Amino acid sequence: MEKYKKAVELIKNSKNLVAFTGAGISKESGVPTFRGEDGLWSKYDPIILDIDYFKNNPKESWEAIRDIFYKYMQNVKPNPAHYFLADLEKRGILKGIVTQNIDNLHQKAGSRNVIEFHGNTRDVVCMGCGRKYPVDVVNFENLPPFCPVCGEVLKPDFVFFGEPIPEDAFRKSIELMENADTLLIIGTTGEIMPASQLPYLCKGKIIEINPNKSAYTDKIVDIYIPEKAGVAAEILENLI
Ligand SMILES: NC(=O)c1ccc[n+]([C@@H]2O[C@H](COP(=O)([O-])OP(=O)(O)OC[C@H]3O[C@@H](n4cnc5c(N)ncnc54)[C@H](O)[C@@H]3O)[C@@H](O)[C@H]2O)c1
Repeated sequence: MEKYKKAVELIKNSKNLVAFTGAGISKESGVPTFRGEDGLWSKYDPIILDIDYFKNNPKESWEAIRDIFYKYMQNVKPNPAHYFLADLEKRGILKGIVTQNIDNLHQKAGSRNVIEFHGNTRDVVCMGCGRKYPVDVVNFENLPPFCPVCGEVLKPDFVFFGEPIPEDAFRKSIELMENADTLLIIGTTGEIMPASQLPYLCKGKIIEINPNKSAYTDKIVDIYIPEKAGVAAEILENLI
């Protein structure tokens, strides 16, 4: 309990609190993570998210992506950890969330300043002309989808392995991290480059919530709470 009290003190006294989230924050909502026990990579080959593989095998990639991301993610709901961050923003304490997630759960919980470092599942983008469409245009029974204007393949508008980070998201994330006086890291291994480098830009104090140690825990974290995100968030919410 001592750790929770210290974390609450830091959070309440911070002028520029920022959160950095990964797949773990959504696990209690029912979205599987990539790595670890029951991780997606124990069932699927990560190659389906490689941009060169996608270009050569759009049908195979799309079919796996449909099963992994669209079937799961359409009906999932935020959990107490997402609501906790949304509440901190409403109270004026949290300035923004940099998320590696593409599941839209921060927005569903009511968070407004959400920087999607790896894009999102809401839109698709044309590989030919770059036009974007809402994912509703995709007929999941007949994959891959094609651009109604130029006829090229449509790709989910999230970042594949081998693709650059959207410029705007990259710039805003760096700005948030550099100005943060307290950073709350939730549910990420800290292994996916370049996202993993962002917390090192924070000059302030760092709190981490993750049942397992990450690449950050023993290096830059000041208060480590080894707990599931939803469970820890409920305790913190009650103390704030
Ligand atoms: N929900 C999503 O949008 C989703 C799902 C899978 C993967 N991805 C993306 O794939 C990449 C994977 O990197 P990553 O580091 O974010 O995830 P990861 O899959 O590599 O690791 C998950 C992390 O979450 C932790 N974790 C597991 N259960 C938790 C819980 N209940 N509460 C808190 N933490 C918990 C694990 O210990 C681990 O550190 C990222 O880009 C990620 O966003 C996104």
